[in-house]
Amino acid sequence: MSTHQETIDGLPTNEGSDLDHPFSLQSLIAALESLNSPPELAQIYEWLEKAEISTEDLEPYIGFKEGNYWRHRVCRNKFVEMLVLCWRPGQRTPIHDHNGSHGGVKVCQGLLWETTFSYDPVDGLEYKSAREHTPGAVTGSDVPDIHQLGNPDVSERDLVTLHVYAPPLGVLHTYKPGSAKIDLYVPDETDQMV
Ligand SMILES: [Fe+2]
Repeated sequence: MSTHQETIDGLPTNEGSDLDHPFSLQSLIAALESLNSPPELAQIYEWLEKAEISTEDLEPYIGFKEGNYWRHRVCRNKFVEMLVLCWRPGQRTPIHDHNGSHGGVKVCQGLLWETTFSYDPVDGLEYKSAREHTPGAVTGSDVPDIHQLGNPDVSERDLVTLHVYAPPLGVLHTYKPGSAKIDLYVPDETDQMV
C-alpha cells in the first residue's frame, strides 16, 4: 500500500512524493504514453523498480507456447514499447544485442537467468558473466550490451517478465559462442493485446 504523506524531519509533506509511489501497470502505461522522447535507461529502471504489477494486471498478457517464449505487447509508440514475456522452463532468447535500443526487465514470476557476453571482431563472442534474478528484480541492457535471457529448465516453473525498450525493438543482432559472425534476428510477432 502506498501513502500520500511522507515525513522529512518529522514534518508531513506531499512534495516530491509521487516519485516514491508504486506504479500500477496502468500508471506505467500512462507514463510511457505521455513521452515525447525516448526515455533514458536510468528512467526505465526507476519505473520498473517502483512498478508493482498485480496478477490481475498481468492476466490479459499471460500465455505460453511450447516451442518458444511468447511476447505479448502491452503498448508501443515511436519512443518506447512495453511487453510481457512468458517463458516455459527451458525457453530462452538467442544471444543478442538490441541494435541501438536499451531496455529494462522486471521479473514478475519465476526465475530469470541472464548471461552476458563481450564481442571482439577478431576473437569473436566471449562469455562474460551469468546471474539469476528472482521476482521483483530489475535488470537490463544498455547499448551495445550482448546478452541471453531465459527460464532455466531446472526451474520447473513458468517465468513472466515485464520489458520496456527504447526505442522499440526492430531487427536484433545475434551471436554464437566462439564465433565472430553476427546474424540478424526479428523477434517473433507479438500477440498484440492493446
Ligand atoms: Fe535482450
